[in-house]
Amino acid sequence: MTARAPAKVNLLLQSGPRRADGYHELLTVFQALSLADDVTATPAPRWGVSVRAAVRPDVSAEGHHGEASSGEASSGGSRPGGVDVSAVPLDEGNIALQAALLLARETGAGGPVHLSIRKGVPVAGGMAGGSADAAAALVACDALWGTGLGLDGLAELGAELGSDVPFAVHGRTAVGTGRGERLVPVLTASTWAWVLLPAGHGLSTPRVYAEFDALVEAGRLAPDAAPGERLRAVEAALRSGDPHALGAALGNDLEPAALSLAPELAGTLEAGRAAGAVGALVSGSGPTVALLATSPRSAREIAARLRAQGRTALTAMAPAPGAHVLEPVLASAGPARTDD
Ligand code: C5P
Repeated sequence: MTARAPAKVNLLLQSGPRRADGYHELLTVFQALSLADDVTATPAPRWGVSVRAAVRPDVSAEGHHGEASSGEASSGGSRPGGVDVSAVPLDEGNIALQAALLLARETGAGGPVHLSIRKGVPVAGGMAGGSADAAAALVACDALWGTGLGLDGLAELGAELGSDVPFAVHGRTAVGTGRGERLVPVLTASTWAWVLLPAGHGLSTPRVYAEFDALVEAGRLAPDAAPGERLRAVEAALRSGDPHALGAALGNDLEPAALSLAPELAGTLEAGRAAGAVGALVSGSGPTVALLATSPRSAREIAARLRAQGRTALTAMAPAPGAHVLEPVLASAGPARTDD
């Protein structure tokens, strides 16, 4: 049983101060991307997990979309065109395995499964790839075991594993509050074209939040006095379907913290704007930079310009659906599509 779950960008991420439980109170807008991870759950003698990178034709060295042959990269290293999966745990530290174990424990359903993860989402990139794996594992095991929890039940369970898991279950576009786990869907008038620039390294989310706290404490970052106004601007832009309006409304309170830890991201943002993006921001806690384009064609052109500079650039459409079971024919048809 195979399920697919999407990566996300935060169109807006406004953070309050650290709460007593260590988390930050957020006002955020998530958008799910066509960039995705697939998780296949197969009944097995004992619990286990393996991971491999989905090869994306559109990031081949030649940069010719769709011309490279599809296939799999072997696990354990970076490879042109594929995600570096070497940092993904293969024991009970793996969040997809934790999700399957939690679902079995909570419902009493099912038995041991082997989870095979095919990653299209950069690891530790600020795009909730781990949360996507958890969401896909929940949906795949639920379909295998018939737990009857429903998507809301799975999302609620997922919140125990990570703040972004409920969004990976539901997908599309949503306002998130609390830790980011309380969601209200937002309708958008349009589809949106993105270019993603993964960094050659990851950034730890707790470290970025700690840097955010340090910047606030030092008086170098002030929480937005009227966070609702930024939210209304993003919602209005989503309704209008105008990429220029959405590009102008994008914002991420964690960006200064990510830039402080990875100063080279300032150049990446600048290169994205210079290549024709109408909006550029660090995705979540980074280090992936997300660029908004005016159309899928513009996104491909921006990506080609950036690849010509030696950067890795992926294209994706949004909003994408949340975690869902893939029909067998789709599950065997090659890597996750990342483009329109
Ligand atoms: O919930 P999740 O495990 O994804 O969070 C990882 C870390 O990110 C937390 O331990 C915390 O340091 C930080 N975080 C936060 N506030 C949030 C979400 C995450 O401080 N709203």
